[in-house]
Amino acid sequence: MPLTAASQDVTSSASPSAIPMPAPIGAEIVGIDVAAGPSQADYQFLRDALHEHSVIVLRGQDITPQQQQSFGAHFGELRTSFYNRYAVPDVPALTIVSNLRGADGELIGIADAGMLWHTDGSYLKTPDMYTVLYGIEIPHEGGQVLGDTVFASAWGAYDALPSGMQRRVDSLRAVHSFTVHLEKKQAKGQLKRAPLTEEQRKKVPDVDHPVVRTHPINGRKCLFVTEGHTSEIVGLDGAEGSELLEFLTEHVKQPQFQYRHHWKKGDLIVWDNCAVQHLAVFDYGQIPRRLHRAGISGPVPV
Ligand SMILES: [Fe+2]
Repeated sequence: MPLTAASQDVTSSASPSAIPMPAPIGAEIVGIDVAAGPSQADYQFLRDALHEHSVIVLRGQDITPQQQQSFGAHFGELRTSFYNRYAVPDVPALTIVSNLRGADGELIGIADAGMLWHTDGSYLKTPDMYTVLYGIEIPHEGGQVLGDTVFASAWGAYDALPSGMQRRVDSLRAVHSFTVHLEKKQAKGQLKRAPLTEEQRKKVPDVDHPVVRTHPINGRKCLFVTEGHTSEIVGLDGAEGSELLEFLTEHVKQPQFQYRHHWKKGDLIVWDNCAVQHLAVFDYGQIPRRLHRAGISGPVPV
């Protein structure tokens, strides 16, 4: 039988390896047990694999919130979400992503995360560079896994643009807006969280970023406009701007740029928010789902 990722044991004593997914991005990492405490060399291996494959998946991990937080800190500075009401108790860097409700009937986590294509924190001056997401309770129905996460290669999408279009967008900037994002969700009937308070709104003023971002580590050029958060292209008013923005955000969604992750309990995923956009598939209704997310701060995009 050929040696596949699924047939190998998770062990911290073996040298880790990265097995590319049958997709343009993504790799499964084998040979690292996060609970056992990866070595510095293991973490360097993970960072290198992440920058090469854009999404890395560690299966079968059994970790505490504190261990996930510590794991995330090896990729950079952890960012505390302004949605602190959904933080894991005593672990402020972790946000609960869930449709579950507590004894008081209130949602225990963010229930509407990621239903439009986006990249985490692009509405911030310094967006999240990486995201670490851990699957704790994964919905199933009729033997089928639900609640997939779909990733699209932002550098693959840029590379596939005709050179004339690349030149056209290379020097443009675009506005990213959390307020517009919530309005888009509301318009689609997807909003499941309370409206922003005035204090929260002040923390997330609109920002603008390059339409084409250069990856700070590997130098790849990445398309950095999204369906979810980009509201307009700076300096292009009316139909010209909206048509270009729609073309770009539709372009990046095409299947040839994608890796679709089918979750299993114990999956620990890290993705690179410069290199990929992602989408949460909301097909599980009220079937319980719980994941814990950590965001790692990044530089100002250039
Ligand atoms: Fe996200």
